[in-house]
Amino acid sequence: MIKTWFPTSIYQVDLNPSEDIVFNMLKSTSKIDKDEKSITGDLNNNYTLHNHKSFEWLNSQISIHCKKYLTELGCNISVLNFYAQKSWAVICKQDGYIPKHIHPNSVLSAVFYLMVDESSSPLNFYTETSPYIGLPLVYDANQYTFDVAQYHPIENRLIIFPSNIPHSVMSSNQKGKRISITYDITVTCDKIYNSESMILDPSFWKKL
Ligand SMILES: [Fe+2]
Repeated sequence: MIKTWFPTSIYQVDLNPSEDIVFNMLKSTSKIDKDEKSITGDLNNNYTLHNHKSFEWLNSQISIHCKKYLTELGCNISVLNFYAQKSWAVICKQDGYIPKHIHPNSVLSAVFYLMVDESSSPLNFYTETSPYIGLPLVYDANQYTFDVAQYHPIENRLIIFPSNIPHSVMSSNQKGKRISITYDITVTCDKIYNSESMILDPSFWKKL
């Protein structure tokens, strides 16, 4: 018998936005679209979608589900505050891709699939701490040894993950536009729960 240990827990939920909400979010994302295979709002000076009226619904959904996620992970959410820090659209077309990266500026990251189809490229998550990486062994990756987890995008699906998990969107022969919205979420703690390992809520900060 083999037992597996040490989970990487990623949250997933399927949402149900109205046609109007989707239309208005898509309209906002069209502002960054241009003749390139991969376009990201964070590199095109458009990374505060959470302050736009058309993203109020998504803000509230991300709030609800970040709280559910951290509750499941064992956090006491009654002493935590959640802030949308940055949010931007990612548009990938045929042969477009997003190289492997992390989001070192935040605690949780969320991806919402606004417009995808069956040919859309998957999202890959990686572990870099697998004990099998770097061992002088050759093996076919299976359920005991895999170090890449793949998500095929589904329209209106929201995925939330710790921001320090490496992830990428691989290049593929996708036909239509693949449009997703990314949020970076900062989680802070109230003064009554001050913890050395957490960020104190900015309401107690002073700008210097
Ligand atoms: Fe990312």
